[in-house]
Amino acid sequence: MTTSPATKLTSTAAWKDLTTQFELIGKKHLRDFFAEDASRAEKFSVEALGLLLDYSKNRIDSETMERLFALAETANLKQHIEAMFNGEKINTTEDRAVLHTALRAPQDAVVMVDGENVVPDVHAVLDKMTEFCNQVRSGAWKGQTGKSIRNVVNIGIGGSDLGPVMAYEALKHYSSRELTFRYVSNVDGTDFAEATIDLDPAETLFVVSSKTFTTLETMTNARTARQWLLAGLGGDSSAVAKHFVAVSTNAEKVKDFGIDTNNMFIFWDWVGGRYSMDSAIGLSTMLAIGPGHFRDLLAGFHEMDHHFRTTPFEQNLPVIMALLTVWYVNFFDAKTIAVLPYDQYLKRFPAYLQQLTMESNGKSTTLAGDRVSYDTSPIYWGEPGTNGQHSFYQLIHQGTHLIPCDFIAFANSLNPLGEHQDYLLANVIAQGEALAMGKTKEEVEAEGTNADLVPHRVFEGNRPSNTIMIDRLTPSILGKLIAMYEHNVFVQGVIWQLDSFDQWGVELGKVLAQKIIPELQSADAELAHDSSTNQLIKTYRKLKA
Ligand code: F6P
Repeated sequence: MTTSPATKLTSTAAWKDLTTQFELIGKKHLRDFFAEDASRAEKFSVEALGLLLDYSKNRIDSETMERLFALAETANLKQHIEAMFNGEKINTTEDRAVLHTALRAPQDAVVMVDGENVVPDVHAVLDKMTEFCNQVRSGAWKGQTGKSIRNVVNIGIGGSDLGPVMAYEALKHYSSRELTFRYVSNVDGTDFAEATIDLDPAETLFVVSSKTFTTLETMTNARTARQWLLAGLGGDSSAVAKHFVAVSTNAEKVKDFGIDTNNMFIFWDWVGGRYSMDSAIGLSTMLAIGPGHFRDLLAGFHEMDHHFRTTPFEQNLPVIMALLTVWYVNFFDAKTIAVLPYDQYLKRFPAYLQQLTMESNGKSTTLAGDRVSYDTSPIYWGEPGTNGQHSFYQLIHQGTHLIPCDFIAFANSLNPLGEHQDYLLANVIAQGEALAMGKTKEEVEAEGTNADLVPHRVFEGNRPSNTIMIDRLTPSILGKLIAMYEHNVFVQGVIWQLDSFDQWGVELGKVLAQKIIPELQSADAELAHDSSTNQLIKTYRKLKA
């Protein structure tokens, strides 16, 4: 099949139609859209898999959506989706298949990579993880001194950290409170020191999570962890086997580090780091919530995969969300998207999405190797509501930037306390309404506001948002939500003709850091950088001394 983009995006008829559409309705106010059509909310909502996506507070009409769907057709989106699910090597710059969807495929599914069905391997690792987690959670897995494990420290960074941290926080309600979980990612020694300050080495298990097992931060933290453990347990290196497990694609490096490969949980090069939280990288998640809940999480992912693959674009949650993003980024010149979960358990969800979205689509070269002539990934950011309301929402309501928002809300709290949930939900609903409708000069004046204050108290409105409303946060729902954003990112990448699965942009800084390390450690090695970089190195040397 041909997935390579044949035509320059901006020359397509679909793109030109959208440009015309923007000229027609780009300035039209959401107040008018709603006033003209009593059934607007119904028309621009999709309910699927227990999620309601209300996208009616977007600056669109039926024609806009038709034209956006036509853009998806022009981009051969359907064929691209099939190519991904079928294991074609769509990550062309790394010559790899992209098969995070196989990680949550049911046991009887068949997903071929290089002539081999990978699903049995996926389930074999899941079974090994299950057995290990049952041993640790039941106390049967003993540390060096015969004590059971009470603390789990995941060491990893990027995709080997953000997913596990986010999932641990999101599913804390379902987690074992007998075990303490810590996450160490930063090469700043403070991260390790604070994470382990109150832990007993005899009761601590380290999960070293790294796809490559070469990442500077993770390997440095893992070596420090080994020293910390051995210092605490009398120096016998046989303790490593009982207190360290590894999650990686690189058995050789795991062995070199000194971790028994029996204590290794593998995954594969067709799983991208930022798409790996439902692979063995989820070991700490499974330890926290237990194998049953972990399988529910995977089932949720899989349901969204199925929805994405089989549902017509008009009813397809990730497709609609992605096309709206394209609409704002490329036609309204929106630079950022705020993701605002109204659930404290999702406090790390925006940070997780930052890697997923921006490492995937923060690119300016097309698959064909050309410089793009349009903007690509917006900057994703956010905080849980209602905290954000008392901080940066001022800018979203009255600032000069157009910031489309994704509100995520749950009808039922996992911690129902008095009237908290009604207040929380009233706030999220009110924010969407305020952003869309605003408050006119006339309305402000009618309240008897002093004339000099009127301009300050006007809200122009017409600020777009999606609201995703769900019954309650469960492992399955979390899987659906994450998969929805994964596929949203995929669709954006298809439209923008990008390789969403490489990350060459992180390489240069890593290489330069390797060069600078010995220069910082030497008092007088000659420096041949630009004058600013030289100055910073010299200043560090002086201050360090
Ligand atoms: O930051 C670049 C990156 O390669 C990410 O894509 C990845 O998630 C992270 O580093 C960690 O890599 P690894 O799991 O190989 O340690």
